[in-house]
Amino acid sequence: MLKIKGMKKSFNIGTENETNIFQDFDLDINECETTVILGANGCGKSTLFNMVSGVLSCDTGEISLNEINLGKLKEHQRAAHIGRVHQNPSLGVSPSLTILENMSLADKKCTKFGFRKLVKKDRIQKYTDVLKTLDLGLENKLNTQVKFLSGGQRQSLSLLMATMKRPDLLLLDEHTAALDPKTSKVVMEKTMELVKKENITTLMISHNLRDAIKYSDRIIMLDKGKVILDTRSNLISETELIKIYNRQNLVDSDEEFEHAV
Ligand SMILES: Nc1ncnc2c1ncn2[C@@H]1O[C@H](COP(=O)(O)OP(=O)(O)OP(=O)(O)O)[C@@H](O)[C@H]1O
Ligand SMILES: [Mg+2]
Repeated sequence: MLKIKGMKKSFNIGTENETNIFQDFDLDINECETTVILGANGCGKSTLFNMVSGVLSCDTGEISLNEINLGKLKEHQRAAHIGRVHQNPSLGVSPSLTILENMSLADKKCTKFGFRKLVKKDRIQKYTDVLKTLDLGLENKLNTQVKFLSGGQRQSLSLLMATMKRPDLLLLDEHTAALDPKTSKVVMEKTMELVKKENITTLMISHNLRDAIKYSDRIIMLDKGKVILDTRSNLISETELIKIYNRQNLVDSDEEFEHAV
């Protein structure tokens, strides 16, 4: 499915801010599974997503999706295969366009179209049906500009838009982190309902260890661009996961302490 082989990535080479985040990084993601990526701030989770989606390019190495070499495709070409929902609820939607226009944009992803004919009348029923599955009443607000929606409503819309064309791979980068606990739970459950129903291969970044176990098939933990844990989610408990997470962070703070002295 998704295969990463020998990936290297550094930032700001030759400066005091040089970061060699990935060095010879390999990863194999199985089809139709949900894999959670865990790890402390700065360990490379979003950089990994940025390289898969084409926002950043690898220094060396190969990333392929269903045997397609993604290195040969630009970000907008990869978008035909990859859906992404960001942590920031404003990133996956166009706030000044209406819900209907946003849905139409997602529907026309990767095709050439004119803005004058953005909304196709014969697709409105389809959008209404899809929006109804969210149970948020958005189907009654088709002509509302998205900037007037709450964060949770925007994230839910963003999720529908990212999955409308059933991507081969869905990337969720802490997509519920900016929401209050109740809304976060609702959006997470809707996400998993949709992912399971459509059987979408999903990579999800999270800092919530309980969600990681509950909603995924596989858990991968990164530390400074390296895989330090790769397990089936049903084979690990939250307590064990917390221990590994804390152990890693303790090692990190010891190192920082040593540098400080
Ligand atoms: N565009 C960039 N330019 C320079 N450095 C970058 C860039 N993107 C990421 N980095 C650096 O790479 C490292 C990994 O960053 P990344 O954003 O992938 O972390 P993360 O695991 O997503 O963290 P968080 O949990 O805080 O979101 C950090 O040291 C960061 O400063
Ligand atoms: Mg990040």
